[in-house]
Amino acid sequence: MTTRVIRNIAELTTNDPSLGDESALGRLYDAAMVVDEEQVLWVGANATAPDADESFDAERRAVIPGFVDSHTHLVFAGERSDEFEARMAGEHYDGGGIARTVAATRAATLEDLRAGTSKRIAELEAGGVTTVEIKSGYELTVDGEARDLRLADEFTTETTWLGAHVVPSEYQKNREGYIELLLSSMLDVCAPLAKWADVFCDRGAFSVEEARVILEGARAEGLAPRLHANQLAHSGAIALAVELDCASVDHCTYLDDRDIDLLSASATVATLLPGAEFSTRSPYPSARRLLDAGVTVALATDCNPGSSYVTSMAFVIALAVREMSMSVDEALWASTKGGALALRRGDVGQLGLGARADFAVLDAPRAAHLAYRPGGNVVAATRHSLSRPR
Ligand code: NIG
Ligand code: FE
Repeated sequence: MTTRVIRNIAELTTNDPSLGDESALGRLYDAAMVVDEEQVLWVGANATAPDADESFDAERRAVIPGFVDSHTHLVFAGERSDEFEARMAGEHYDGGGIARTVAATRAATLEDLRAGTSKRIAELEAGGVTTVEIKSGYELTVDGEARDLRLADEFTTETTWLGAHVVPSEYQKNREGYIELLLSSMLDVCAPLAKWADVFCDRGAFSVEEARVILEGARAEGLAPRLHANQLAHSGAIALAVELDCASVDHCTYLDDRDIDLLSASATVATLLPGAEFSTRSPYPSARRLLDAGVTVALATDCNPGSSYVTSMAFVIALAVREMSMSVDEALWASTKGGALALRRGDVGQLGLGARADFAVLDAPRAAHLAYRPGGNVVAATRHSLSRPR
């Protein structure tokens, strides 16, 4: 296997506390790193870097672990910019527009869905994402959800069945019938196609009791649970997520002290999606309260056409820093290691020895430029494009 040494790194963030300054960021200055196509082989001082088959000069730029975007809805058709404009003029977001995307996605050809998903993946990658989670949830039929999970599987192993996104229009008068469909033929077909099950547990979507039944049914079919919770209103969804040992509970916009206590005593990650608060003009979640209580926090894009048409993790970091009082280092960690923990992955989101060699070279001497220079793309190259940095 070909080895490559990346020399002359001004600031290397490994997220391995046994390396460098021994902080959570495991940071080294004036560093080098050796990788092969699969994993990190060596990390240390530039002056002591060993030779390798190939050499890449980072030219005193910063290197970070590739971003782990642990929450996206990339498989969809159409767009809803009119809803965004209405919200900026004072309308509230209630998830009602999901039905429009369901109609557009059902009507789309597989080729069109693939092209749209592929374009959004390319945007994420250009911004430094090297691991992505993708949910279904915009067809809400047995065949449609299966088609979307098969498509998601072309791009990632982190596939999530979100048949319980909302109750589709044809079941409006037969809610129990839809839940029955979810737990019978839809789960039969979709469980082998996904790794995770998610439910939109919120006002106007599914109740805590419905979410419990759906996630328990999914778990019995081998899917691991995660949850959309407390985006629109406070509920008992956080307690449910902790009780079911969800890998992650996502949004967490409305939390009380008990929710924070439960999360801090659990292995459930709180994934914050500030692109959604930005795009729906909603209050941002209390990242500081979560972090100060010792809760593990992740940041993700939530890329979808309704509440957060965002494909830039740097933009998410900038929002977290500017609007949620996270430090740049906390936001960087939450976007990499935090995302990995939200997917229960130990091999990504960090650059310790043996980790996957997924990293991004920034067009900047320090990772702080991710938040400090919003609006441009500070990512010069990811592992996949090192031979042709932009
Ligand atoms: O995570 N909240 C539920 N699902 C998406 C939004 C879906 C939509 O509006 O199309 C979210 O924000
Ligand atoms: Fe979402």
